[in-house]
Amino acid sequence: MDQEIKKGLAGVVVDTTAISKVNPDTNSLLYRGYPVQQLAATQPFEAVAYLLWNGELPSEGELAQLRATEREHRALAAPVRASIDLLPLDAHPMDVVRTAVSVLGATDLAGGGSVLDASGSPEENLARSVRLFAALPAIVAYGQRRTRGESLVEPRDDLDYSANFLWMTFGTEADPVVVDAFNRSMILYAEHSFNASTFTARVITSTLSDLYSAVVGAIGALKGPLHGGANEAVMHIFDEIGDAEHVVPWLDEALATKRKIMGFGHRVYKSGDSRVPTMRAALDTLVEHYDRPDLAELYDALEREFVERKGIHPNLDYPSGPAYHLIGFDTLTFTPLFIASRVTGWTAHIMEQGAANALIRPLSAYNGPDERAVPESN
Ligand code: COA
Repeated sequence: MDQEIKKGLAGVVVDTTAISKVNPDTNSLLYRGYPVQQLAATQPFEAVAYLLWNGELPSEGELAQLRATEREHRALAAPVRASIDLLPLDAHPMDVVRTAVSVLGATDLAGGGSVLDASGSPEENLARSVRLFAALPAIVAYGQRRTRGESLVEPRDDLDYSANFLWMTFGTEADPVVVDAFNRSMILYAEHSFNASTFTARVITSTLSDLYSAVVGAIGALKGPLHGGANEAVMHIFDEIGDAEHVVPWLDEALATKRKIMGFGHRVYKSGDSRVPTMRAALDTLVEHYDRPDLAELYDALEREFVERKGIHPNLDYPSGPAYHLIGFDTLTFTPLFIASRVTGWTAHIMEQGAANALIRPLSAYNGPDERAVPESN
């Protein structure tokens, strides 16, 4: 029987979600009904995390409560730190964070008994989500610091999520312009319907596995340069090109050798990514703050040339890569920043999947050899 193969599940609708809506026709993205650019302009990341998990923006009291819990769980737990310290200094930071989350999960679920109890109640999963959200900045920050030979910086209770994240990474208090740009990037990366890593998390959840296992799997999916790894890859490209003057010859060569230009193109958006204008504006504030017009020139030159030649538009990774570079993050730390943000969307989806579960198990069309007998000599 001939079966239609939907390679890459392109165009396949596999379930409903109330968490976000991506509309490629209008280039818009809504989190629980709210336009993402409005959320980025007005909300702290903690409020957006609350929205993704609970369906509504928090009241003042609810936000204060979430912030208090988040602050309680910011410090790097001893087993997590010890496991990070066992890893080679040149391990990829995505592998470091993936390992750390795995250790966090094993520690948190210890004593939980059989796999039959692993999936947890909705209340337990919400509490696990908040703890993971709170713990990730310390993991990412320490992951970068130790590769620079720097010591751990303890969290600060008087700073909100984004300011404290930067504090733990750099050991200095960031300028409000920088905190604001970083906060916006966290909001923009938080959620994007059934992208590859979120779908991975939902597949794992659908087997009634636990939230940490689902997040570890999602991190694995996010690492790839066709997905989250693109923000790191964009910066490698910028380093290769050097400056705006070299864009044309570099692109000639790249297109002649059929290279994919990272930070451009999207499976869903074909005429522009809804998140780019907001992130570009945040990048502009950083370009001004750090006085780096050369970076904006390179950015514009590559975008102009590539869009003109291929008609393929930038995605969120294109402005976020240089923005994270200006803030001072190492290029290899960019995708771990994406984890710290997207963990909110992943865990919202894990809870949504758990609330109306069906095992995700598609079919395949076999194209191997016909049935045959094992040769007797074997
Ligand atoms: N650079 C060069 N060519 C690209 C391209 C890019 N960034 N993105 C798409 N194309 C080309 C493909 O080569 C293909 O050309 P072809 O038809 O001649 O083979 C065509 O556009 C369609 O691309 P395809 O890869 O089939 O689209 P997709 O929907 O499967 O892929 C991405 C979407 C994101 C995987 C793809 O655009 C890509 O690889 N982008 C770079 C990585 C990236 O930035 N990822 C982050 C996504 S948020």
